[in-house]
Amino acid sequence: MDYEQWRFYPMRLSDLDQVMQIEEYSFPTPWRRHMYESDLRTNSHSRFYVIRSVQTGELAAYIGSWFIYDEAHVGTIATRREYRGQGLAAQLLAYTALAALNEAMQYMILEVRVNNEPAKHLYERLGFQLVGIRKGYYTDTGEDALLMTCDNLSGLASQLAIREG
Ligand SMILES: CC(C)(COP(=O)(O)OP(=O)(O)OC[C@H]1O[C@@H](n2cnc3c(N)ncnc32)[C@H](O)[C@@H]1OP(=O)(O)O)[C@@H](O)C(=O)NCCC(=O)NCCS
Repeated sequence: MDYEQWRFYPMRLSDLDQVMQIEEYSFPTPWRRHMYESDLRTNSHSRFYVIRSVQTGELAAYIGSWFIYDEAHVGTIATRREYRGQGLAAQLLAYTALAALNEAMQYMILEVRVNNEPAKHLYERLGFQLVGIRKGYYTDTGEDALLMTCDNLSGLASQLAIREG
């Protein structure tokens, strides 16, 4: 992977056309645009980031998290289909871990669908541990959510290879 071809940026309202395009095919129940808008406009806890191509500016992947008290809660993460499997989601998690460390967060937490093998594989590889199951959490499919946490934020952040734009 040539990480030099990518850069991190804070998500902006002008990114939302591309975010929504990826969102629509990535999740059984996509977030609505107004949910992103409200996070970006008014939620001081929101830490939303994107990865864009240096050459084309194309948005390749994004993450949305909330930093509250000592917890960095990842609420959404997705990679454009053609760029999956190249480490971009891992980089977004590493970047969020670094931001979390800088703001004195103690751990990261997320929910993942029990049948989402690529995501589970990714989180396990990055050191997230299963800490609970929320039965029937996803009302669209009735799937359980696995609750996973990572408290080794510096280990995760040390995997950062993409630079800020
Ligand atoms: C989950 C997702 C964000 C991962 O993005 P990505 O940029 O491809 O992630 P990475 O390249 O960093 O890592 C993907 C890992 O999943 C693995 N993977 C891919 N398809 C897989 C599959 N069918 N089964 C198991 N593992 C799989 C890859 O091998 C890779 O692991 P590795 O680095 O150990 O080889 C992406 O698949 C996606 O956007 N999915 C739709 C949205 C989603 O489910 N988000 C997560 C919500 S909790």
